[in-house]
Amino acid sequence: MVDISTKLADVEFPNPFLVGSGPTSGNPQKIISAYKAGWGGVVLKTIGDSIVRKSVRPMYASLKRDKEIIAFENLELITEDPLETWDKYMRVIKSEVKIPIIASIMGGPDYSEWVKLARWVEDRGADIIELNFGCPHGEPERRTGAFIGQHADLVYKYTKEVVSSVSIPVIVKLTPNVTDITEIAKAARDAGAKGVTAINTVYGVIDVDIETAQPLPSVNGYSTYGGISGPAIKPIGLGAVSRIYNRLKPYGISGVGGIFDWKDAVQYIMMGANNVQVVTYTMLRGFEFVKEWKKSLEEFMTRKEYSTIQDMIGIASEKMKSYEYLEKVTRRRTTVDEEIESIRGEIYG
Ligand SMILES: Cc1cc2nc3c(=O)[nH]c(=O)nc-3n(C[C@H](O)[C@H](O)[C@H](O)COP(=O)(O)O)c2cc1C
Repeated sequence: MVDISTKLADVEFPNPFLVGSGPTSGNPQKIISAYKAGWGGVVLKTIGDSIVRKSVRPMYASLKRDKEIIAFENLELITEDPLETWDKYMRVIKSEVKIPIIASIMGGPDYSEWVKLARWVEDRGADIIELNFGCPHGEPERRTGAFIGQHADLVYKYTKEVVSSVSIPVIVKLTPNVTDITEIAKAARDAGAKGVTAINTVYGVIDVDIETAQPLPSVNGYSTYGGISGPAIKPIGLGAVSRIYNRLKPYGISGVGGIFDWKDAVQYIMMGANNVQVVTYTMLRGFEFVKEWKKSLEEFMTRKEYSTIQDMIGIASEKMKSYEYLEKVTRRRTTVDEEIESIRGEIYG
């Protein structure tokens, strides 16, 4: 019998599949549905105070190949609901939902607001706090979100302030839009964060209508640089998780970005993630599929004789080496035929 429970930041999750922060974790009805479907945890839609405002409309666009969505763009900001509404939401969530709740928060440029929000969610029963230093649109113009996440010194400062003000674990959500994500993850760890979530969306433009020279999504004829999610960003997420794992192990990592299949989740775990988060796929398919994912994961683990999630964490990342290392181990001629061909080449030019 395999055990698919897993720990992050000293908190135990019944299985590694979490609903990540986004529209599908934005109110109690959705979170209760996710819980009933069997998800292992939920990261709440990012909660704020002074920066809460309405997102532009339309705020989504997608890119398809062969009718399948390969990438998704959003211009959605943090929650549009004020703290008074979240106060009611939290009461319902805490009484109905018996899986770990990670509260994602974002303050403005003044770090004291982050501290206030952290205490606010702690008082309302959050199990872990996730600092959203990753949102790439709207918020950075106001010197928060990815603006903080792009500066290791700011990540250190804001994280340290929050960590020293609460007694529940704090994790940091990272933006991939940086030169070296491991530097930012290290700043978070040095400031006392128990783990990181990698990655938030990737800065981009999903599509351009060449008939009208219109970048999408079109907000009354204009657009802005948005956050790309979905399968197109999985390689970026896997690379980020692996690099953080290989630099900071042992360290808590929640893997996110383009998980559309249970196998994608196993890939993130093998690259170093303790658990995974899914957002875009839940927007397209709801929550029920997690039952199949858990069954497939258990079957896979049984077949491969992994008894716990821990047995799989980082095992593929151990095979990531420097280029110089590969030069030493590379096979220059792979088959006898190739060797003969190469000798003929040397003789006959
Ligand atoms: C519509 C939408 C809204 C999002 N809102 C938030 C948010 O409020 N806070 C946050 O930390 N991440 C937010 N994200 C980012 C996701 O949590 C996740 O990091 C990203 O979408 C990559 O995962 P995915 O490919 O599974 O969607 C949002 C993503 C989408 C698509």
